[in-house]
Amino acid sequence: MNSFIFANPTKVYFGKDQLVHLGEEVSRFGKKVLLAYGGGSIKRIGLYDKVTAELAKAGMTVFELAGVEPNPHHTTVNNGAEICKREGIDVVLAVGGGSTIDACKAIAATARYEGTDSWDLVTGKASVKKTLPIVTVLTLAATGSEMDGGCVISNVEKNEKLGYFPPNAYPRVSFLDPTNTFTVSPYQTASGSADIMSHIFDMAYFGNSDEMDMLRRIQEEVLSTVVKFAPVAVKDGSNYEARANLMWAASWALNGFLYDGIVQDVVCHQMEHELSAFYDITHGHGLAILTPRWLAYVLNEETAPIIKRFGERVMGVDPTLGLMDGAKASIAALEKFLFETLGLKSRLSDLGIDDKNFAAMAKKACGAKGKIESFTTLTPADIEAIFRMCL
Ligand code: NZQ
Ligand code: ZN
Repeated sequence: MNSFIFANPTKVYFGKDQLVHLGEEVSRFGKKVLLAYGGGSIKRIGLYDKVTAELAKAGMTVFELAGVEPNPHHTTVNNGAEICKREGIDVVLAVGGGSTIDACKAIAATARYEGTDSWDLVTGKASVKKTLPIVTVLTLAATGSEMDGGCVISNVEKNEKLGYFPPNAYPRVSFLDPTNTFTVSPYQTASGSADIMSHIFDMAYFGNSDEMDMLRRIQEEVLSTVVKFAPVAVKDGSNYEARANLMWAASWALNGFLYDGIVQDVVCHQMEHELSAFYDITHGHGLAILTPRWLAYVLNEETAPIIKRFGERVMGVDPTLGLMDGAKASIAALEKFLFETLGLKSRLSDLGIDDKNFAAMAKKACGAKGKIESFTTLTPADIEAIFRMCL
């Protein structure tokens, strides 16, 4: 069991009617705020009006960055940072899903960078010591970005999508009101739920670490929460209990607590970021397609016990099955959940993806190390084989 430091600095306001605290929290950092949001959902659901009213009450001067894309582009980050520098912004407010929050983290860093191109920071060519403070109002339960310190930014000209951890980029405050997720489509709800599960799988559950049993058990409970409530939210978007459980599960899947002390590559995420980089697909859907195929690929006598345990504890698989049969039944149950219960299409070809770029994507997924090390060690040839299983 590894030693670890646990600290999560994000203050969370959870539940209905918490937005009344937005003004007091944002104005702690100054008077000028950059309000960033996506393609317009926050206007359609009436949240934009509520947020701007609270900011006005607090006497904030508001500058806006609209149109942050899903899989946010570094050029959009550059535009946001340019506003911050030009207007002397004190605090960045992200209202939206993971893409908007991620863009804001990179904006908050680039605003402190003497250069103008955020890609320099994302690629590690340059660095900053400080970021502007970030506050978030979350509208989609999935990424955990509302309570973690990382972001993922895309460079569409280069077909690259990279993780970036600016200094001190944890949101200072996040507002988590489940009613703000009532309008998330069944498709985005299903994809987001697959993302939550994948964070637990990739960061910790399916790994080689000698992990604390307490953490394994909590991981299983959070996974079970998603298995219980995602189908409810897919069918009935306005079910508060389901939306609240998914929202809090998403934050806790990636806020550090569930993977204390575990260091491993995030295998399906490394593969999925290549799919998003080349084909701009929905992150959680890519993970849903990859995860069961990856598990089938790495299944052997050594990996089977934890795969079997997952099936028994989370998916209701018969515990009397033998080791390999139990593990296979677990993978089948996960597939059934993702592709039948949640209704996600199961193949990359369903998303218009063929094998043309698989070799290049597999190489990039393995990065400078040339391999991915988590549950098992995978080479580019292994990754290419897993992509092919998903076709
Ligand atoms: O752009 P708008 O109009 O807001 O619409 C969005 C978008 O089309 C819509 N949406 C969001 N809230 C809504 C809503 N529609 C109706 N009602 C609402 N309340 O949903 C679509 C997807 O939004 P997006 O923000 O892209 O989704 P998500 O939260 O899944 O974020 C995905 C991004 O986060 C990255 C992913 O790679 C991807 O780029 N990730 C970030 C992580 C992190 N920071 O730690 C970790 C994750 O593993 C992930 O990689
Ligand atoms: Zn993810």
